[in-house]
Amino acid sequence: MPADFQIRHAVAADLPALVALERRAFTTDHLSPRQYRHHLSNPRALVLAAVDRTGLLGKAVVLFRKGSDIARLYSIAVDDAARGRGIAKALLRAVERDVRGRGCTRLRLEVNQANPAAIALYEKIGYRRFGAYAGFYEDGTDAWRYEKLLAGTKATRPRP
Ligand SMILES: CC(C)(COP(=O)(O)OP(=O)(O)OC[C@H]1O[C@@H](n2cnc3c(N)ncnc32)[C@H](O)[C@@H]1OP(=O)(O)O)[C@@H](O)C(=O)NCCC(=O)NCCS
Repeated sequence: MPADFQIRHAVAADLPALVALERRAFTTDHLSPRQYRHHLSNPRALVLAAVDRTGLLGKAVVLFRKGSDIARLYSIAVDDAARGRGIAKALLRAVERDVRGRGCTRLRLEVNQANPAAIALYEKIGYRRFGAYAGFYEDGTDAWRYEKLLAGTKATRPRP
């Protein structure tokens, strides 16, 4: 069945909806409007939006570092009412395509150890746990670190 939403690059006009989704989806560690504004115009950041005719359904933010072939999924969220429709999976597929296109070989992320939905999502699509950060989030909770070696790149052990 064809998807009833589209994935596209976010633009400045999406800012209010991005910030509103951020507030609804996360209880802590919110990206501020200023950070979004910066990411939207920063060539070392990628902000993707999942949209339908009603507006923004989901978003993903990826950061790149100069000289590094490791990209970082900084944030992903889907609006409560739009969950369970494969939107996060589609956002991640689009993210991985873009990351590969920029010559990066790995995508890394942190996920709250108390977030089973996100952990299930990442493990389902091939992310592998390789570490942890204690007290990573503003509320003191711990993160798992996950990594995916992107298809078409040579397999090596995760680097610390
Ligand atoms: C995690 C989140 C992004 C998933 O978005 P989504 O669009 O509902 O996810 P999808 O429909 O693409 O689901 C893909 C897979 O993820 C897993 N998954 C998603 N939601 C899940 C849930 N509530 N419980 C268990 N597994 C879940 C499933 O394996 C699912 O595959 P399936 O539908 O074939 O079973 C969404 O729940 C969210 O925005 N949560 C709040 C913000 C957040 O926690 N972001 C992640 C920060 S690291």
